[in-house]
Amino acid sequence: MSYITEYKKKTKNSAKLFAKSLKLHVNGVSHNIRYYEPYPFVVKSSGGKNLVDVDNNKYTDYWMGHWSLILGHAPSKVKESLKKQIEKSWMYGTVNEQTILLSELISKAVPVAEKIRYVTSGTEATMYAVRLARSVTGRKIIAKIDGGWHGYTSDLLKSVNWPFTESESSGVVNEEKIVSIPYNDLEGSLQILKKHAKDLAGVIIEPVLGGAGCIPATQDYLRGIQEFVHKNKSLFILDEIVTGFRFRYGCLYPTMKLDPDIVTLGKIVGGGMAIGVMCGKKEIMEYSNTVGKKKSERSYVGGGTFSANPSSMTTGYATLSVLKNGKSIYSKINNLGEYARKELSKSFDGKVIVTGKGSLFMTHFVKDGITEVTNATQASMCDVKALRDYHFKMIAHDGIFFLPGKLGAISNAHEKSDIKKMIQ
Ligand SMILES: Cc1ncc(COP(=O)(O)O)c(C=O)c1O
Repeated sequence: MSYITEYKKKTKNSAKLFAKSLKLHVNGVSHNIRYYEPYPFVVKSSGGKNLVDVDNNKYTDYWMGHWSLILGHAPSKVKESLKKQIEKSWMYGTVNEQTILLSELISKAVPVAEKIRYVTSGTEATMYAVRLARSVTGRKIIAKIDGGWHGYTSDLLKSVNWPFTESESSGVVNEEKIVSIPYNDLEGSLQILKKHAKDLAGVIIEPVLGGAGCIPATQDYLRGIQEFVHKNKSLFILDEIVTGFRFRYGCLYPTMKLDPDIVTLGKIVGGGMAIGVMCGKKEIMEYSNTVGKKKSERSYVGGGTFSANPSSMTTGYATLSVLKNGKSIYSKINNLGEYARKELSKSFDGKVIVTGKGSLFMTHFVKDGITEVTNATQASMCDVKALRDYHFKMIAHDGIFFLPGKLGAISNAHEKSDIKKMIQ
């Protein structure tokens, strides 16, 4: 029996529901990457490491809410906090204490977060970071990485998917104001940055390239870019939406001795509820203070009906509190990730390269002479169809869920036995 047949046999209710979804939603989904062939299963509940679909199939989940659920699905401490908050109400639209509590935690753990602004998605956070960099410098060009994904803001919707030279979408204007540089290639990147130096407002980088292949940047690369950017009086923006609180209690940048001007956060710091965070050095962030300033003197940052809503602030606070008081969580999940990478590398007759860091990992099926995966181009040259097929096989046959083609995230709800089963 083919895996497609096996999948269809066990997901009959999902097929019916997804047919309805297709009538109502474009391609049946609201986030493009959630669709896969022949149709995605429909989830009815989740808990711990598991997703349960409407046919009662249980899956050990490695997608983990777009990698946001570091404690697993619906962990009890976060759930209890949210329940208490919901008893009081879930939306105020005003200043609330929950926000202050979360910010106190973030500012202590992330030294550069001298000032903070909340939004409801990572996309909004990076959109604002770009606007702020342009305002502060009075320049227009933003450089990003080939393969870098910072959400769907038009300001950064360029060179996301291979081939990086094509426009990602119609409807995006001023694409010439976004320039793209090669990851982990300092010389190649500096050459491009130098060409645009005069009008370069800032560079935005993920310290571990997430969507484009789960590839850590080298410290030398990031420090080299930062040095150029600061000498050029541009801003160094680190997008830690995936990496923030993922490997340690705080951001990745201090471990690499970096000095970013703006850091964006999201995912984990929202504890599973909608969030985006832009934070950074006081003098830069204060540029977005609107009080008593002319329009020309400020950066207009800070909107969003649901910004800093008490529900997201509560789940974020509860999640960070658990992580703060349970630092062994990081050694546990980082070790499990190390184990997964080591063991997976030995599988598939050595025809794979497994990238990642800490609790994040991704299996690349090598072809066409690829011997390393240190940037998005090499990741795209690997057999991405084989990766999707491998993930789909695990969904259909083994009760293991990776979003086909995407990196895996280990949570505190996973155990070594889960990783062993996945490797088998
Ligand atoms: C590095 C990075 N930045 C920004 C975003 C966008 O965040 P959101 O999906 O919350 O808008 C993502 C989402 O995956 C991301 O991985």
